[in-house]
Amino acid sequence: MDGNGRWARARHLPRTAGHKRGVESTRRVIEGCARRGIEALTLFAFSSENWRRPKEEVSTLMELFLVALRREIRALHENGVRLRFIGDRSAFDDRLRRQIDESEALTADNKGLQLQVAANYGGRWDILQASRRLAEAVARGEIRAADIDESAFSFRLSTHGLPEPDLFIRTGGEQRISNFLLWQVAYAELWFTPVLWPDFDDEQLQLALDDFARRQRRFGMTGEQVEPQHA
Ligand code: IPE
Ligand code: MG
Repeated sequence: MDGNGRWARARHLPRTAGHKRGVESTRRVIEGCARRGIEALTLFAFSSENWRRPKEEVSTLMELFLVALRREIRALHENGVRLRFIGDRSAFDDRLRRQIDESEALTADNKGLQLQVAANYGGRWDILQASRRLAEAVARGEIRAADIDESAFSFRLSTHGLPEPDLFIRTGGEQRISNFLLWQVAYAELWFTPVLWPDFDDEQLQLALDDFARRQRRFGMTGEQVEPQHA
C-alpha cells in the first residue's frame, strides 16, 4: 500500500492526511476481496524499515492502526473475516498489542476472508525467524538437518497455513518488492500500478484481477503442459 504521502502532497495536505485516506482504501479493498470470495489477503501496513520515518509520522500511523482496528473489528468479525497480524509486534505499545491480541482471538475461528496485516514486518525477518526456529528444532532433536525441506521451512514462516499469494499488487508506481513476503512470492504474479493507494478503488482492484486472470501460470512447465487444449 504505497503512495499516501504523495497523494497528500499533491493536495497541499500533511502526509498524515494521506494515511487517513489510505485507511478508507484499505477498508474498500478488504470489502472487495471478501465480496469476491477471495481466500486470503495480506496487507503491508508497516515495514520494519518504516521506523526510520519522522517520529510524528510514525506515531500518527500507530494511532491510526489502533483507531481503525477498534472501529472496524466488530464489522470484520460479523463478516466472517479472520484477522491475523504478522511481524514483530513486540515493538508496539501495550494498547496496540492488546488490541491486536484481542482482535485475533475474537476472529480466530472465522472461515471467511483470511486477512493478514503485516506490521513491523520484513520478508528477511520472517526467513530469519523461521531459520532460527528450525535450528532450535534440530538442536532439540525433533528434525534432522537433512530433512529440512520446503514444507518444514514454510511451516515456520509467519504465514503458515495460508496458500502462497497468487497475486502481488503494489500501488504508487515503484516496481520493487521492498522486503514484503520474500519466500512466499516465489510464483506470485506481480502487478504494479502508478495509482496512489488512497485512489486505489474497486475498479482498480478489478483491473488487477482481470489482468491476473489472463496470465498463464506455468510453474516451470511448458505452455502445452498447463493448457494441453491449446497445444
Ligand atoms: C503508505 O504510503 C505507506 C505506509 C503506510 C508506511 P507512503 O507513506 O509510503 O507514501 P509515499 O510513498 O510517501 O507517497
Ligand atoms: Mg512510499
